[in-house]
Amino acid sequence: MALADFLADLDQFAADAKSAFDEASTLDAIEAARVEFLGAKAGRLKSIQKGMGKVDKEDKPTAGQKLNAVKGLVEAALNAAHEKLSSGAAEAEREAFDITLPGIAPQREVYRLGKMHPIYQTINRMKEIMGRLGFTAVEGPEIEDDWHNFEALNIPLSHPARDPLDNFYLSTAKLSADDKEAEVVRTPALGPDGKPLLLRSQTSTVQIRTMEQTKPPVRIISLGRVYRPDTADATHYPMFHQIEGLCVDVGVTMADLKGVLQMFWQAYFGEELDIRFRPSFFPFTEPSVECDIWHDGKWMEIGGAGMVDPNVLRSVGYDPEEVTGFAFGLGIERICMRQHGITDIRDLYTNDVRFLAQF
Ligand code: DAH
Repeated sequence: MALADFLADLDQFAADAKSAFDEASTLDAIEAARVEFLGAKAGRLKSIQKGMGKVDKEDKPTAGQKLNAVKGLVEAALNAAHEKLSSGAAEAEREAFDITLPGIAPQREVYRLGKMHPIYQTINRMKEIMGRLGFTAVEGPEIEDDWHNFEALNIPLSHPARDPLDNFYLSTAKLSADDKEAEVVRTPALGPDGKPLLLRSQTSTVQIRTMEQTKPPVRIISLGRVYRPDTADATHYPMFHQIEGLCVDVGVTMADLKGVLQMFWQAYFGEELDIRFRPSFFPFTEPSVECDIWHDGKWMEIGGAGMVDPNVLRSVGYDPEEVTGFAFGLGIERICMRQHGITDIRDLYTNDVRFLAQF
């Protein structure tokens, strides 16, 4: 093969490749041109290269030099095509951003703002109102011993409130040593007094804990979780919340109890309202009452209350001849549900954000 023909082929190749890369305006077009001209298997350069073998021996160096030069040229055209494409895209993007446009509002689905759980909204409101009436919020443990949940509250051993079917007594569980048929062995979990521990069934436990640690006067509330093995339905749940109130001082009477509860509920519902007591029984109060308020055109039951039983005062080392006190205990879910028109307590605890976000 004459050198002239070989060089002419190369020139033609260079011109075709250059114009193909210059015109390619998409990644696909650039890639197609690369395969056509520089493809390792069937590219045009490859077939021209094969022609080298037929070039006369003394012309080979010249042919080789030209081949390399053309190859470099075409590769440069390929790179230039890529560069043109990416800088063009960046420019287009820059132009698409109009800084005079108003901002994009955060999407609810993307930036979901957290909210206080409705029960805690109720709890905080109750704390705030009772705080204004001079009551300090205190807390107690959710795992309790016999003394604080029952004994000191004047609930004797024989009392049905201690029934294992009505309480979550705790046990420790471990796998038995026989690893062939592993079996869980449960042993009752006992408190320091050797009596069974349980998840507290009432916040009245905090009355005892507070009085054990402070001298009268005492004016506290305690709000928190309590546990009873009820089957969950629209009005029952094995865990719920109570608010407990306790006031002990010289000369505290039932009139103080009624006055505090009335002021509390008036502040809570933001209106004047009537309050009434019905005789009742609780082991830790004497006398004991059920309390109703006149709300929304009817009497609404709100919880138990009474004058602290002298036995309770004695159990914490107070002298019932010296001080008297009142106490009350209310379920928080009932109030919260009534207020928001929630009809199923389970809705509060299934953690469906679509439900909770409404409050
Ligand atoms: N602990 C009672 C319960 O869980 C509620 C209660 C009633 C608390 C009367 C009190 C009280 O402090 O005086 O049903």
